[in-house]
Amino acid sequence: MSDVLSKFRPDEECTQTNYNRKLKVGIIGTGWIAESHAESYLQMDDVEIVALADLIPGKAEKFAARYGITNVHFYPDHKSMLEQEELDAVSVCTYNTTHCVCTVDALKAGVHVLLEKPMTVTLDEALAICRAEKESGKIVDIGFQPRYEVNFQMIKKIVDSGVLGDIYYIQTGGGRRRGIPGSTFIEKKTGGIGALGDIGCYALDVVLNAIGYPKPLTVTGYTSGFFGASTEYYPESDASRFNVDDFAAAFIRLEGGIICDFRISWAMHMDTTGDSLILGTKGGLRIPSTECWNGYGLDRPLVYYHDVGGAQVETVIPPKESNAGRIFYEKVRAFLDAVQTGAPSPISSRQILYNQAILDGISRSAELGREVEIVIPEV
Ligand SMILES: NC(=O)c1ccc[n+]([C@@H]2O[C@H](COP(=O)([O-])OP(=O)(O)OC[C@H]3O[C@@H](n4cnc5c(N)ncnc54)[C@H](O)[C@@H]3O)[C@@H](O)[C@H]2O)c1
Repeated sequence: MSDVLSKFRPDEECTQTNYNRKLKVGIIGTGWIAESHAESYLQMDDVEIVALADLIPGKAEKFAARYGITNVHFYPDHKSMLEQEELDAVSVCTYNTTHCVCTVDALKAGVHVLLEKPMTVTLDEALAICRAEKESGKIVDIGFQPRYEVNFQMIKKIVDSGVLGDIYYIQTGGGRRRGIPGSTFIEKKTGGIGALGDIGCYALDVVLNAIGYPKPLTVTGYTSGFFGASTEYYPESDASRFNVDDFAAAFIRLEGGIICDFRISWAMHMDTTGDSLILGTKGGLRIPSTECWNGYGLDRPLVYYHDVGGAQVETVIPPKESNAGRIFYEKVRAFLDAVQTGAPSPISSRQILYNQAILDGISRSAELGREVEIVIPEV
């Protein structure tokens, strides 16, 4: 996992916007991903980390020592931090099952939230966040850093240019042949869901964001976990704890008659579940699926399929030099800029509610063994 994280470490100087006011931030959950948040905050002049909270005794203290974070208060949980600190914003870097409670409590305390992905585990939790955000007047920004990678951004630019015509079918997924993360990702009590939430949320976001996030209507979903629980593939210490999915597939109907065909994997006997595709009435786009979808660039170029003068041609989109080393910084910066200026959330909870509704629908459908309707109540 540390290899993946090191790819996010800023490899060149990042631009800084200076505001007069120094923001006070806290980090809730000082585990693996909190490192990238801390590293980004520490490079910025208009923010100071004043509080760290973690349920595991001594973990926040060690984290602070590792990053040379001084003048900081430590808390044994998010609640005591929010009660005792005057904060402008928090990063919620906890495992998935506590995303909702930490975010809702922060909003109730009048604090802006940068929330790690996936938004939550269930649709009800995501709705609770949207409602608390609306009541609080604060923002929730969902931490999908791939949105800041230049080649990923190209996907949306191509769709927005109109060259694909009306979109009627998308296929997304990918994932890996073997690569279950372990840690808190593999148990229901902490991860809630497995590959589906971990990398499935990204795979969906890349294409749904590109086509304007149409509302999901129905889903037939499938999940399995044949590898994670098997000592043939994983050490006993992980296999005995594993109780989430390591593979998921779904057929989703979206508003506007659009179909989304989805598959994601942490482990399978296959190299990839295939390229991602966006099919429109005037053109198609082939997007090489990636193992993680976490924004660390694309390993092949995007290809645009279209007709010219009756001939069927393919245009290879020249890849741009990836800015993957800076996308975590960009994600944190975009959040703070919105907090500083009062701008809307860069990646809004209202949009990612649809992403979460799909994940929730896949889980429900898989459990029931049939297609389910996706009903998203008004916020
Ligand atoms: N954006 C990315 O690229 C990326 C990469 C990895 C993980 N993540 C996401 O980040 C989240 C955390 O992942 P991780 O690998 O850092 O997990 P982790 O288990 O290493 O750390 C989570 C920490 O949160 C703490 N915690 C849980 N509930 C808490 C509470 N109420 N108050 C205070 N502390 C609490 C736990 O004690 C734990 O130390 C997950 O949702 C994951 O999906 C995102």
